[in-house]
Amino acid sequence: MQQLAERLRLSGKKIGFVPTMGALHEGHLSLVRLAKAHADVVVMSIFVNPLQFAPNEDFARYPRPFERDVELARQVGVDVLFSPEMQMLYGEHFESYVSLERVSKGFEGESRPTHFRGVATIVTKLFNITKPHIAVFGEKDAQQLSLVKNLVRDLNFDIEIIAAPIVREPDGLAMSSRNIYLSPEERQLAPAIYKSLQLAELHIAQGERQAKVLEELVTQSIISMGKIMQIDYVAVVNAESFQRVEQLHEGQDYYILVAVRLGSVRLLDNLHVRL
Ligand code: PAJ
Repeated sequence: MQQLAERLRLSGKKIGFVPTMGALHEGHLSLVRLAKAHADVVVMSIFVNPLQFAPNEDFARYPRPFERDVELARQVGVDVLFSPEMQMLYGEHFESYVSLERVSKGFEGESRPTHFRGVATIVTKLFNITKPHIAVFGEKDAQQLSLVKNLVRDLNFDIEIIAAPIVREPDGLAMSSRNIYLSPEERQLAPAIYKSLQLAELHIAQGERQAKVLEELVTQSIISMGKIMQIDYVAVVNAESFQRVEQLHEGQDYYILVAVRLGSVRLLDNLHVRL
């Protein structure tokens, strides 16, 4: 892969990179389309990275429909599919990790303490292997996107990070490879998360600027759907710093973050607010 990337670079091609863990859906495919618009050659990786799963998480049962993924990647126009074996990336003597101090803490980092170290490490490795000029990450994982941007800034990767908006099911549920874990009843309730974000959006349009009020609106809206959804967090953060804010100001970007547990599944969603 490194040799191929080097050859592409020498022949003047611009490399676009889309890292994934497979079980591809429309969200992943939208990233590829965005990459194609910004690059000559699109490399997609499929690698279920053990380092970002805690021992009690779903690494073993994470869906791996490889043949289907290959077909979808081909259809959407991926030029190079990079799907390494675990041993190739994490050999016996592996001992180097990348971790970010601030953005790894809080929100996802709170319930998954080693998750972002795993993400930062694999993303660093994949950048060094695929040598991209640009790389596309989804806003679905807004904290991950923020982490990757900071990683690129702090470690001087010569890579432009492009953010892709969240792709949703027709009923509003953010697409995710983990949605297949939802029971039919849970799947019916899940769109309530996005509905609660839309409610916040409406209040912002009507002039609401207090983070606390917006967080309470979203929280109450989810609670009103019944006790089956357990809220992990609802938070308004500055899109750049990923720090919580009290007040929304004109000319700034924010995310309203939501994480809930529904049965055995943790669902993430957010709303990008541009004032
Ligand atoms: P994975 O969950 O497979 O997601 C791959 C990319 O697709 C991420 O950038 C994610 O934000 C994006 N994505 C997922 N669902 C989306 C949706 N509904 N709309 C838009 N984009 C969506 O994120 C990972 O894999 C891993 O952590 C990885 C970066 C590959 C490192 O292992």
